[in-house]
Order: sequence, then structure tokens, then C-alpha cells
Amino acid sequence: MKLPIIAYGDPVLKKKATAIEPAEYPQIGQIIADMFETMYGARGVGLAAPQVGLSMRLFVVDATPFDDDEPELKDFKKVFINAQVLEETGEEWAFNEGCLSIPDIREDVFRCPVIRISYYDENWHHHEETFKGMAARIIQHEYDHIEGKLFTDRLSPLRKRLIEKKLNDISKGIVDVDYKMKFPAQKKGR
Ligand code: NI
Repeated sequence: MKLPIIAYGDPVLKKKATAIEPAEYPQIGQIIADMFETMYGARGVGLAAPQVGLSMRLFVVDATPFDDDEPELKDFKKVFINAQVLEETGEEWAFNEGCLSIPDIREDVFRCPVIRISYYDENWHHHEETFKGMAARIIQHEYDHIEGKLFTDRLSPLRKRLIEKKLNDISKGIVDVDYKMKFPAQKKGR
């Protein structure tokens, strides 16, 4: 089932998400399936649980459509539960990022090129892995979501000021978007 994506301005996107236990979420498989369906419906390469209103440490990624250009994205369809970034290394590089919760805005964001991360997969198997380049970039963006951070929090005060009105409009639902969203400041009847 496709879920509405929570738009910029909702407090759930600002909240640090909590770790989950297998016993608490026997239906985790369904949540994961719904998140993938929601992400594909919006043509995203990653989606974090807070973006569908669930404040839990869970995100999904699938960047396999881009694996022709980026060898590190081969088989890059994964589920990350209770992820913890252990180390970020290398010289920061800029990439023009977007976010399904912030439609129509893209900005250059600086991040380290290599990360080491600990996480559980959808079968609750533990992994400790190193990711590089675009794979690392996608994980860092989604990991920020479970830490209550958005890419706009990583912009300079000047850039942030320049897009402030657009961000406010998004929270009110004044934006063209072709997937279902939930806008925190939308007036009734719009
Ligand atoms: Ni995002």
C-alpha cells in the first residue's frame, strides 16, 4: 500500500527516531513493503520511516536503476534497521540533493565520501559494512532522516534564507507534486 509522504515542516521529520526490537514489530515486513512501494511511486532512491510518519530507525534504498553509471550501486537495494554510522572519512564532496519530503528543491550538500555503518537487514541479520560514493551519499541522506535532520539543515544560512519562502509554501501544500503527500500547515478545503 502506498503511504502519503510527510512534507517539510512536520515535527516528525525533526525528531530523532527510536531503535526498534523484532518483538515490537512482527509486521515489519509489511511496513518495509509499503515503504518500497511508496518510494517507487514517487521515483525516489531512498525513503526513511519518519517520512511516512513512523519515528523508527528504519530506511530503505534502491538505486539499482543507476548502476550502469555507478558501479558501487550494483545490487544497491537494501533495508537498514537500527543503523549506526561508525565512521565517516575522506574529503567532503558536493552533490545536488533532493528529498521526497521537500519536492522541487535541490541544493548542493557536502558529505564525506566513505562511511562505515552497522545495521540490521529485513531478516534481523546484523551487518557492518563500508559504502562509498553515491551509495554512501544515499545512506547518509536517509540516515540523517532517522536522526531528525534534513538536507536543508546542512545548507549555509544564506542558501537557507534564499529558499525559505519555498519551504514555507511546501509545508502549506503550495507545490506541484504528483505523489500523495501530507502537508503540516495545509488549510482545510485546499
Ligand atoms: Ni530525504
